[in-house]
Amino acid sequence: MNRLLTTLKMVTLSALLMGMTVMAAGAAEEPKLVLSNTDCVKCHSAAPAAIAANGSAHKTEIGCQDCHNGHPPTVKKIIPACSQCHSDKPHYKLVNCQRCHTNPHTPKIIKLPKDITAECLTCHTKQNEKLKQFKSKHSALSCSFCHSTHGKIPLCTQCHKSHSPDMLVGDCKRCHQAHMPKVVTYTSDTANSLCASCHKQASVLHSKTDTKHNKVSCVACHKDKHKMVPSCQTCHGAPHPARIMARFNKCSYCHNIAHDLNRWEPEAPKKTGAAVKQAPKAVKK
Ligand code: HEC
Ligand code: HEC
Ligand code: HEC
Ligand code: HEC
Ligand code: HEC
Ligand code: HEC
Ligand code: HEC
Ligand code: HEC
Ligand code: HEC
Ligand code: HEC
Ligand code: HEC
Ligand code: HEC
Repeated sequence: MNRLLTTLKMVTLSALLMGMTVMAAGAAEEPKLVLSNTDCVKCHSAAPAAIAANGSAHKTEIGCQDCHNGHPPTVKKIIPACSQCHSDKPHYKLVNCQRCHTNPHTPKIIKLPKDITAECLTCHTKQNEKLKQFKSKHSALSCSFCHSTHGKIPLCTQCHKSHSPDMLVGDCKRCHQAHMPKVVTYTSDTANSLCASCHKQASVLHSKTDTKHNKVSCVACHKDKHKMVPSCQTCHGAPHPARIMARFNKCSYCHNIAHDLNRWEPEAPKKTGAAVKQAPKAVKK
């Protein structure tokens, strides 16, 4: 019964397709079946519509029949392999292209499965080099854990809280890079308030001092890289005669600490104390 139906369908289809026949040169010859790309839409709606809307290069560079060579029942297998046309790059050696390029008629509409890393490396290598060289907890995450849609850059605050309410999402990049987040560096225009998020005491002392260090920014002294501590001499050279320095070989004997310069009261703090550890834990998705 089924077979009969199928046969009937095929016969009908053959007849229908014949309707689109273009006669070969001689009238006496067998009619030759020639389908053109404009015929497909008469029986198929989804594929032509998808191609028209989002076919990209599969619309502009090729036509239906470059991929679908022939038609059932005459030709049985007309679904092309991607490798028929894409074969010369590492990216084209991946298995099951349609995992991501879910519809060949809309090749640029890409859906990334979960936990993709190796596949990204067929095109992007720099980011992975950083993740591997500068180990952090980000190194253990897959690329698509953060980039869930191709090309989309996530905000740090999607997964983390800011160090303080006045630190905005745009500030994160002043100090962190996503692919090496533990290497904290910054430029010379970084505001004192950003350091203050974690270093309350240093900031209070520094903002209160009435010496000229008040006008020197945190990052002018703690230059470029987090935890860098300058020596006084880098900026001041040798301001006093050597014979004085021979007796008092530390600037702090007379000047106290950089944040609280020239405070000679006996109770002056030597250190402003450890940073307030405020950074919140990341939230897993
Ligand atoms: C007269 C109607 C008709 C026209 C015109 C037509 N098709 Fe089809 N096509 C069908 C039918 C019916 C089937 C289902 C055949 C089957 O299942 O055996 C089909 C199946 C297909 C398939 C699926 C084959 C498979 O293996 O799953 C593709 C691909 C296809 N057509 C492409 C085309 C292209 C490309 C054109 C234009 C060049 C075209 N068709 C023109 C009726 C048509
Ligand atoms: C880049 C190659 C390519 C081009 C160009 C292309 N197709 Fe396809 N088509 C495929 C592949 C591959 C499949 C199999 C899809 C699958 O397995 O999910 C397919 C499936 C189909 C099918 C059967 C499944 C369905 O979606 O209904 C039809 C019908 C079809 N194509 C028609 C067309 C028509 C009509 C055009 C031109 C407007 C066209 N295709 C252009 C590669 C192509
Ligand atoms: C008949 C040849 C042919 C087949 C089969 C084919 N493609 Fe293509 N494809 C092309 C051509 C030609 C281009 C444009 C030039 C290029 O990018 O290489 C292209 C471009 C693309 C693009 C980029 C689109 C753009 O606009 O930049 C993607 C993605 C793509 N193909 C994926 C696939 C996938 C996935 C398959 C298998 C399902 C496939 N192709 C099968 C010929 C083909
Ligand atoms: C893990 C997901 C994934 C898989 C699997 C995958 N691709 Fe891609 N492909 C992409 C992404 C992402 C792009 C980049 C798109 C862009 O540039 O916007 C892309 C781009 C392309 C392009 C256009 C750019 C270029 O470099 O040529 C082609 C062609 C292509 N893929 C073909 C294929 C083929 C063929 C396969 C299977 C052998 C395949 N893809 C498997 C994700 C994937
Ligand atoms: C076939 C090659 C290809 C593959 C595979 C690929 N990409 Fe891309 N990707 C590109 C191209 C091309 C661009 C656009 C480059 C540009 O605009 O500078 C891009 C852009 C991006 C961007 C945005 C860059 C920016 O500056 O805005 C991100 C993020 C990205 N890809 C991440 C990924 C991730 C994650 C994967 C794996 C899931 C991946 N890509 C797979 C080729 C690819
Ligand atoms: C999609 C989620 C996601 C995004 C977006 C994200 N992170 Fe993370 N991040 C995590 C996870 C998960 C961890 C590990 C947390 C844990 O195990 O406690 C982490 C850990 C960290 C760590 C600690 C690293 C270590 O080894 O101790 C830093 C620093 C960090 N993230 C900074 C950032 C910055 C800065 C951004 C933006 C450039 C960012 N993150 C974007 C998910 C994310
Ligand atoms: C923890 C989340 C996270 C992970 C994991 C991650 N990225 Fe990113 N990626 C980002 C953020 C955020 C940016 C924006 C740039 C920045 O803040 O440093 C970015 C930027 C990019 C860019 C744009 C160019 C650039 O370097 O700035 C590309 C391409 C990219 N990532 C690819 C990848 C690839 C490939 C992987 C896996 C090897 C990956 N990313 C892993 C969060 C992540
Ligand atoms: C002024 C520099 C600076 C800015 C701006 C900054 N951070 Fe940090 N961040 C740090 C330093 C320094 C550490 C390391 C603290 C430590 O060693 O415990 C850190 C640590 C982290 C950690 C890991 C802490 C933990 O407990 O796991 C996360 C997550 C983080 N930052 C996210 C962010 C986010 C999100 C932003 C933007 C809202 C941001 N950071 C802005 C300097 C900065
Ligand atoms: C996310 C919190 C955080 C931010 C923001 C932050 N730090 Fe720190 N900082 C720390 C932690 C934690 C330590 C280690 C404290 C300890 O070991 O007692 C530290 C230590 C230091 C040290 C001491 C290094 C040493 O060897 O004693 C200096 C100097 C320093 N930070 C300067 C800065 C400057 C300048 C900024 C602003 C650009 C800044 N920090 C931003 C958390 C932070
Ligand atoms: C990054 C450079 C830098 C470093 C490091 C530095 N200073 Fe200064 N210091 C300055 C500048 C700039 C001034 C103001 C000079 C002026 O305006 O004449 C200053 C002024 C002073 C003054 C005069 C204060 C006043 O109000 O008249 C003293 C004393 C001093 N520094 C001591 C120190 C000591 C001690 C250290 C080490 C603990 C130190 N400085 C580290 C840049 C620095
Ligand atoms: C004039 C240079 C200078 C400026 C400006 C400066 N520091 Fe310092 N900082 C130092 C020096 C030098 C030390 C080492 C202790 C000492 O000898 O005074 C130090 C020590 C520290 C320490 C570790 C010891 C402690 O006191 O906790 C932290 C944290 C710190 N500074 C943060 C900051 C922050 C935050 C700012 C801005 C609000 C800042 N510093 C401004 C020079 C400076
Ligand atoms: C024996 C105590 C003593 C020591 C040690 C000492 N200073 Fe001074 N320093 C002074 C006195 C006193 C002044 C003058 C204060 C004034 O004139 O108001 C002074 C002034 C300065 C000034 C300001 C000069 C000016 O022209 O305004 C700087 C800068 C300075 N010292 C840096 C240093 C540095 C750097 C060290 C360590 C290498 C250091 N001092 C060690 C006592 C000392």
